[in-house]
Amino acid sequence: MTAVNKKSELVSWSSTFSVGIKLIDDQHKELLNLTNDLFNHCVGDDAEERAYFEKVIHEAVKYVKIHFATEEKIMRKTNFSGFLDHKREHEAFVLTVVEQIQAFNEGKKFTLTAFTKFLKNWILTHIALQDKQYFEYFKKVATRKSDGKLSITREDLTRYSASKSGIQGAV
Ligand SMILES: [Fe+2]
Ligand SMILES: [Fe+2]
Repeated sequence: MTAVNKKSELVSWSSTFSVGIKLIDDQHKELLNLTNDLFNHCVGDDAEERAYFEKVIHEAVKYVKIHFATEEKIMRKTNFSGFLDHKREHEAFVLTVVEQIQAFNEGKKFTLTAFTKFLKNWILTHIALQDKQYFEYFKKVATRKSDGKLSITREDLTRYSASKSGIQGAV
């Protein structure tokens, strides 16, 4: 087996990935760092790759779960209509990763490169589609505070749902 072509696989952060909220951008950056670390350990040696995977995968899954919980909490608080679909995407991803870890533990065929490519593609696609969609909604609803941060209050939500249903315009 040959080592992965790292240069073409590594992802560096760019503003196109930004969803506009620092906490979430920081978590996404960390996820991309984890992916890059995995690519950097695709050395073409099965034993080495398996050892590295075993060493880092549980912390990585924990981090992913924290990130998903952060997003889901914000979505719930803001009554986002796409919340359940988004949550389902998160759950399906965790399930796939858990299945791959299980296959790994059972000694089934496993390649770190294939796993990491899957991870990278999922993360980038999910940020570009599902996450962006939610954060566009968030930015519409939220109020920018004097320190530049976005926050959502109960009033923001009431105002937003009222304007959406046309009540505000009718008064
Ligand atoms: Fe998400
Ligand atoms: Fe995300």
